[in-house]
Amino acid sequence: MHLFGHHFVDTCQSEFTYFSIAIAITTLGSNNDMTPIRRTNFAYFLLGFVLASVFYFIQTTTNSGAVISNAGFVKIQQQSQAKGLIENEDPDILVNKLAEAHEDDNDEDGDGHQHGQNEGMFQHTHEETAVAGALKQSVRVFCWIMTAKKNTLSRAVHVNATWAQRCNKYVFVSVNETAAKLPNVDLNVTEGRNFLWAKTKAAHQYIYDNELDNFDWFLKADDDTYVIMENLRFMLLAYSPSDPVYFGCKFKPFTKQGYMSGGSGYVLSREAVKRFVEEGLPDPKKCKQAGTGAEDAEIGRCLEKINVTAGDSRDSRGRHRMLPFSPLSHLQAGGNKTMPAWFYQYMYYPYEQGKECCSDYMISFHYVNKGTMYALDNLLYHIRPIGFFDDLWTRELGSKENAGKEIIDTLRALAERKSQPLLPKATEAKDTDKKAEKE
Ligand SMILES: *[C@@H]1O[C@H](CO)[C@@H](O)[C@H](O)[C@H]1NC(C)=O
Ligand SMILES: *[C@@H]1O[C@H](CO)[C@@H](O)[C@H](O)[C@H]1NC(C)=O
Ligand SMILES: *[C@@H]1O[C@H](CO)[C@@H](O)[C@H](O)[C@H]1NC(C)=O
Ligand SMILES: *[C@@H]1O[C@H](CO)[C@@H](O)[C@H](O)[C@H]1NC(C)=O
Ligand SMILES: *[C@@H]1O[C@H](CO)[C@@H](O)[C@H](O)[C@H]1NC(C)=O
Repeated sequence: MHLFGHHFVDTCQSEFTYFSIAIAITTLGSNNDMTPIRRTNFAYFLLGFVLASVFYFIQTTTNSGAVISNAGFVKIQQQSQAKGLIENEDPDILVNKLAEAHEDDNDEDGDGHQHGQNEGMFQHTHEETAVAGALKQSVRVFCWIMTAKKNTLSRAVHVNATWAQRCNKYVFVSVNETAAKLPNVDLNVTEGRNFLWAKTKAAHQYIYDNELDNFDWFLKADDDTYVIMENLRFMLLAYSPSDPVYFGCKFKPFTKQGYMSGGSGYVLSREAVKRFVEEGLPDPKKCKQAGTGAEDAEIGRCLEKINVTAGDSRDSRGRHRMLPFSPLSHLQAGGNKTMPAWFYQYMYYPYEQGKECCSDYMISFHYVNKGTMYALDNLLYHIRPIGFFDDLWTRELGSKENAGKEIIDTLRALAERKSQPLLPKATEAKDTDKKAEKE
């Protein structure tokens, strides 16, 4: 409500300003000597009047357009550019409008609060932004969460209550449906650590049979993995689901191109799943037929043989986006190498503990227990230091070349710049980006 008030004052002030400009220009014309030619005088008046009208027109159109819808971000940005032509707009005003757009977002968190009546405070959900919505529509991710019946109440229900909600669709493989009603797929695979490879194969066969055409990417996560779905989609936006590729936290051993650590989760493109099931699974030379073994290494070996690229999930600055330990381990003040020694030997790419470990657009952590899971979810989607916004996105939105573009196109271009190129030969693009980053 107060924002509306602010807007009203803003409009009045602007009208007053433009009217003053008109008077000033007119006065300027008539003010010189006592003997001006009447025609010149009139011309000045006319000029002033026309300019004032134009300013007033732009101003009015801008404000009437400020009824913000969920997809209002691009509109806002166009408006702010129009305004930018006639005055040096205070960045705070843009920020106010972004906030306004946000207030109009659907409140579907179902926590019973009437957020709209609290003037922007107590917004317990921040996930339904225009950006999150556009990403969810364009990058459809099916999540399958590897769990066990005995973990239903200790783990699966907490995944269900937090990040899994942001998948386009998710299933647990498998939970005890008597203990808790959750989206479940029972693949009739022997439970236990030794049989995770059997479960992984069965899960992909299930996906191939039932979901392949309904989604673009297929994420495997553990029941103690935490995934920031928006950032996963942002990374994937730089790639095509028709590329034979998969992403995760890349480990060195057992393979030439590396394989993805199971704990941080890994995501296969549609094409990768297709090849895995059609070419990999039936062929004993490509995929291990027995159901036992380390699930992540086995799928890594198999995917390598069928030419599915082990993608690089780091951002353009070489910071990791998917990591196999808890945020508490990765993010603690670094330098002392408190991770186990094997970790440093396994990591495919350089790793630095502490703040430098992680991209600003981090995707996943592992060993996230129940408490950390809710803490992370609330820190990311509920609590924020006042005044904090995503500067990168705000800048991108405000740049001239993005005027009038769809949100998703702007996001895609940004995602491509922020990702590692899929082909090694494209190192030039990376250098260009590094330059751009400094600007
Ligand atoms: C499933 O949960 C029910 C109810 O908690 C319990 O009685 C049953 O033993 C569980 N079954 C398995 C296989 O864990
Ligand atoms: C799983 O999440 C859905 C959506 O929030 C919720 O309605 C459901 O009760 C949850 N299931 C359990 C068993 O907690
Ligand atoms: C489950 O697997 C067992 C042994 O592998 C088999 O005997 C049984 O028929 C399977 N059940 C279903 C429903 O597929
Ligand atoms: C993988 O690529 C290599 C080299 O391009 C090719 O010889 C091989 O047939 C491909 N294998 C499969 C399964 O597509
Ligand atoms: C590493 O650990 C030592 C001893 O615990 C401490 O004195 C030092 O400050 C630490 N270095 C860093 C960079 O954290």
